Amino acid sequence: MQDFTFQNGTKIIFGKDQEQVVGQETVVYGKKVLLHFGGGSIKESGLYDRVVQSLQEQGVEIFELGGVKPNPRVSLVREGVTLCKENRIDLILAVGGGSVIDSAKAIAIGVNYDGDVWDFFTGNASVADCLPIGVVLTIPAAGSESSAGSVITNEEGAYKRAVGHETMRPKFAILNPVLTYTLPSYQTACGITDMMAHILERYFTNEKHVDLTDRLCEATLKTIINNAHTVLEEPTNYHARAEIMWAGTLAHNDLLNTGRIGDWGSHDIEHEISGIYDLAHGAGLAIIFPAWMKYVYKHDVNRFAQFANRVWDVEIDLNDLEKTALAGIKKTEEFFSSIGMPVTLKEANIDDEHFEEMARKGTERGPLGNFVKLQETDVYNIYQLAK
Ligand code: NZQ
Ligand code: ZN
Repeated sequence: MQDFTFQNGTKIIFGKDQEQVVGQETVVYGKKVLLHFGGGSIKESGLYDRVVQSLQEQGVEIFELGGVKPNPRVSLVREGVTLCKENRIDLILAVGGGSVIDSAKAIAIGVNYDGDVWDFFTGNASVADCLPIGVVLTIPAAGSESSAGSVITNEEGAYKRAVGHETMRPKFAILNPVLTYTLPSYQTACGITDMMAHILERYFTNEKHVDLTDRLCEATLKTIINNAHTVLEEPTNYHARAEIMWAGTLAHNDLLNTGRIGDWGSHDIEHEISGIYDLAHGAGLAIIFPAWMKYVYKHDVNRFAQFANRVWDVEIDLNDLEKTALAGIKKTEEFFSSIGMPVTLKEANIDDEHFEEMARKGTERGPLGNFVKLQETDVYNIYQLAK
């Protein structure tokens, strides 16, 4: 096990009606708030009105910036930075999913920076400080509500890039599972896939003697798998929605990677796809993760066999561990398919036109992944396997 420091300062407020306290939580950081949201789901559900009321009850002055798109764009982030600078905003309140939260984080790091906020995503600037961020989460998926990262798309060049810094973790995140009842099945499934991918990225490590975190990963994966079909068949099942929502946060709040080094190759390979094709991140992962697994499993057949056995209940064949490993990969792929995700690029209407470009762009800052270091040709081969 590696040495580690673990500190996740996001205050999680979980349960029914908890958005009512958003005003009280916000006012701790000041009276001027940028209310940041997406394309309209929060207005349709009535959440917007409840949040505004709670803020007004605390005498908070509200500035608004809606219109965040899935795969959030740097152009809107720039607008947000200007708005915050001009109005001396104290806190950015993100009401929505990963895209809204990531956009809020990008604005928050850009406010006290004189250059262009995209510099943080190219590595031309380092994050020094970040305006406080609050979250009311409406989709369990990205884990951004307590993660230190933000992923933004630059329309010029179709680059989707990430930046991370400890100061970017939200100060508080309100998680009410009832708010997820209105999610379309496709978004629910994308979220389930993304949170599973966050655990898998951590699970496939070269670190030895990480039994506790292996088991925490497996338990969280099993919980997600056990509740996935229930939330799809019964969208208003509170208990199943609650399990999925909390799992989504735990999958990505960094507890599960204490003492180990995760892979993250599949995420980077996927970001090239959603950067160009504007595909939902979870859907891209359902395609790329099984292909990545098929490409690298021989690197550590034992770990893949353990995964197959403990997560998918595949019986271990001690005479043929490879067979066990492959059965686990197949189960993963079948599961993604069973919740309505595409598992091939073809199913997502993506052909091989940009394979070379994506492999080149993806590796231009060095090889991808840690479990196995992937060069440009490897990434290209994985796109081929995902066809
Ligand atoms: O925009 P609105 O109208 O709100 O609709 C959204 C959006 O169309 C809708 N939605 C959200 N909550 C809803 C709802 N519809 C009905 N009822 C609700 N309760 O769902 C759609 C998708 O929203 P989005 O925020 O894009 O989803 P998600 O949370 O999956 O976020 C995806 C983004 O997060 C990034 C991804 O790359 C992607 O850009 N990630 C961020 C990470 C991080 N910061 O730590 C890590 C992840 O690996 C990921 O890369
Ligand atoms: Zn993800």
